[in-house]
Amino acid sequence: MATIKHFLQFNDLTTDELNHIFARAAWIKGQFKSYRQYWPLQDRTLVMIFEKASTRTRLSFEAGMHQLGGSAIYLNTRDSQLGRGEPVEDAAQVISRMSDIVMIRTFEQEIIERFAANSRVPVINGLTNEYHPCQILADIFTFIEHRGSIKGKTVAWIGDSNNVCNTWLQAAEVLDFNVHVSTPPGYEVEQERANLYGHDHYEEFADPMEAARGADLVTTDVWTSMGFEAENEERIRDFADWQVDGDMMRAANKDALFMHCLPAHRGEEVAAEVIDGAQSVVWDEAENRLHVQKALMEYLLLGKVK
Ligand code: CP
Ligand code: NVA
Repeated sequence: MATIKHFLQFNDLTTDELNHIFARAAWIKGQFKSYRQYWPLQDRTLVMIFEKASTRTRLSFEAGMHQLGGSAIYLNTRDSQLGRGEPVEDAAQVISRMSDIVMIRTFEQEIIERFAANSRVPVINGLTNEYHPCQILADIFTFIEHRGSIKGKTVAWIGDSNNVCNTWLQAAEVLDFNVHVSTPPGYEVEQERANLYGHDHYEEFADPMEAARGADLVTTDVWTSMGFEAENEERIRDFADWQVDGDMMRAANKDALFMHCLPAHRGEEVAAEVIDGAQSVVWDEAENRLHVQKALMEYLLLGKVK
């Protein structure tokens, strides 16, 4: 059996594969915008497993699979046997015999890795505690659309060193750009958890204003990620000085973009003037989840098309 290609972490794909996916995403987006039918995945079935809430990820995968001519099935922990202790290995055996591709949103990365090890079909990470690779695919595609190649550019990450941050750091290694990270004390990047080769592509700053200086893109995320709700009050106190506001955007390069994976909390990690301001591309960013994930599914199932 040919090796199955999964997308469990950003660095599962090479620079060459990523560039192919970005080019295909642009083409697929063009088809969609022109109302041209493109059905390469007719008769294929995507199973989407959610152990955490979602709006964008579910919508973009489900709509995306339909738009490619296939169908999508939604499972969640609450009303499937997954929530009643069926071993993940058994679930993977069964689900992957009835489908062509699987997307999972879950807690520990280890869960999705165990699933993939027992799957007959490609598995895509739709967010784990450690990573959110589909989000960064969309973010970088959005950057390319607005500013061209991200190679050599500087991204400022302000806030929690969470799943989205870890994925930015991996992406910086694969696509050769720099990340300035500023987290409150006690929330620093854990290099091993982020599965990084080294420290060449990121720099840590105690002061978020310093991190923003010289950035081509400023980005942030919620202070409390799903699964960490018990820490919410403490985090609101600890992160108070890590809000992306107008002053911080003015410290960045003049033409810097602002991104946020959403959902956002105005007045916490981002000021309304920034997320609703002229430098913000958050709606393009959200929409691009659809286009890049269609290109990703096409690649994992059909290889390099065109
Ligand atoms: N950004 C993102 O993954 O959004 P959802 O949680 O709504 O899927
Ligand atoms: N870091 C956030 C991202 C949500 C899309 C979380 O994990 O909850």
